Amino acid sequence: MVDSFKQSIDSPIQEIQHDLLQSKGILLLIKRDDLIHPQVSGNKWRKLKYNLLAAKKEQQNTLLTFGGAFSNHIYATAAAGKVFGFKTIGLIRGERIEPLNPTLAYAEEVGMELHFISRSDYRKKEDIVYQQQVRANFGNFYLIPEGGTNERAIKGCSELVEEVTSQLTALPDYWCASCGTGGTLSGIIKGLDGRQKVLGFSALKGNFHQKDIEELLGEKKYNNWQINTQYHFGGYAKFKPTLIDFINTFKKENNIQLEPVYTGKLFYGIYDLIKNDYFPKGSSILAVHTGGLQGIAGFNRRFSNIIT
Ligand SMILES: Cc1ncc(COP(=O)(O)O)c(C=O)c1O
Repeated sequence: MVDSFKQSIDSPIQEIQHDLLQSKGILLLIKRDDLIHPQVSGNKWRKLKYNLLAAKKEQQNTLLTFGGAFSNHIYATAAAGKVFGFKTIGLIRGERIEPLNPTLAYAEEVGMELHFISRSDYRKKEDIVYQQQVRANFGNFYLIPEGGTNERAIKGCSELVEEVTSQLTALPDYWCASCGTGGTLSGIIKGLDGRQKVLGFSALKGNFHQKDIEELLGEKKYNNWQINTQYHFGGYAKFKPTLIDFINTFKKENNIQLEPVYTGKLFYGIYDLIKNDYFPKGSSILAVHTGGLQGIAGFNRRFSNIIT
């Protein structure tokens, strides 16, 4: 069943229409990875692809991974387990709070075994000794790191470039994506192999992405990419009313849903850079919609349905 991951999953590319784009002479395209699959959507599909194929090859029937209580990765891994026939275990940061939020309720409903671990244990998730302890507790499993980022995930994300190349007659000048762990952007940078320009938009506060992505890229050095760190709105999952207004207006204008943690900040940042003439007139930009829409239900539950 997991072999169906190998099939082509080309997500559509759409042009965004807006007076701002016309007045600045910019072509803005959106790669709709949010439409790849109803539950395993966005960058999650690309990141899981080679991991699930490897798990199958290694004859592992259990996937174990880590995530926060609202994690898109937990949701997608639980869904992928159900679709492709793996048992799934999620080690979740913090306490179990009843009723479970929509992300965790869904994960449990589709069969993920949830275990809540202390924040101090969670910080040890990459520590070999801690992982040995986890193996002693849970037996054999295929380990997928937090956020799903590893070499196989980067390989999966790099395929986005080939896909776009086959869909368009010319490569866009700028390739933009949101950065959490930086795995998705690393894949795009690798796929482009030095061509065009790649812009990451940090969804978290801090300047660590530059170094993290350099490490994820390994030996190969590229100088055609940079990270924008000024559009995190206060940090991971933090927001301001201007971001929510932007997301709601974008939906009204384009009938495309963005979410507040990653893609809303990405598009807000792109529009702001366009307003400030960062992109030369005549530039084409491809922005990746990396999904994550499942998080809106939990967000709206906490913040009185502000995303419309
Ligand atoms: C919807 C969405 N977009 C973007 C990202 C950022 O991707 P990455 O962690 O590969 O940088 C994530 C997190 O994994 C995500 O869930």
